[in-house]
Amino acid sequence: MAINHLQLAPEQVAGSTIALLPGDPERVEKIASHLEDARHLATAREFTSWIGFLGGRPVLVTSTGIGGPSLSIAVEELAQLGLRTFVRVGTAGAIRPGIAPRDVVISTGAVRLEGASRHFAPVEFPAVADHEVTAVLAAAAGREGVRFHLGITVSSDTFYPGQERHDTFTGYVLPELRGSLEKWRSLGARAYEMEAATLFVMCAVMGLRAGAVCGVVVNRSESEAIDPAAAEEAEQNAIRVAVAAASALPAE
Ligand code: URA
Repeated sequence: MAINHLQLAPEQVAGSTIALLPGDPERVEKIASHLEDARHLATAREFTSWIGFLGGRPVLVTSTGIGGPSLSIAVEELAQLGLRTFVRVGTAGAIRPGIAPRDVVISTGAVRLEGASRHFAPVEFPAVADHEVTAVLAAAAGREGVRFHLGITVSSDTFYPGQERHDTFTGYVLPELRGSLEKWRSLGARAYEMEAATLFVMCAVMGLRAGAVCGVVVNRSESEAIDPAAAEEAEQNAIRVAVAAASALPAE
């Protein structure tokens, strides 16, 4: 490995093939607390890694940072270390009515409103989640009693203009992005988030499995304000679903 941004040695991952991938380094320990014998492995920049076990099987938890570029570094280096199945454990802003804060959205595919995935495949290539991982996530949500929504999410490189937020410093959104939230809603997309498209495209072309579950922290049809209590519960729900899915996923 030319550069090891994650600062992980091969022996530390202990033969794990499943990685749970939050964006937020602080979410790593929260996820690891659901695993057996969990311990911290490394922290470098936005990448924090813990390992733990589910039914005796090692599971790695590594934060990817925000957005496709840093996620692509984490997934590339984890693949080199032997990881083969990747589950993003994120947060999302819903754009369709009927999706409540605290629910989770399980991405079946993602709009490539980002740039990193273009370094792995041309834009005509679809960003689609692995079917088996997605089915296991949905079944896990059902078992955990977490309300879930399956569908397309919009992966945007930016939190503000790309997700058509007008309550910003300048309030300015480029003409080509004005009306984009309504466009994606009309096309049936469930929510905005920032990493699924990069994850799905790079895993598909690398022969790896990927899925994504995101806790809904706000519904933009109703409000622009994120309620911290709802956000915390949304995060916990996404974690419960991802951990239950990891313990049910058949080995590759
Ligand atoms: N993450 C996003 O990318 N957008 C939101 O609105 C909430 C979480």
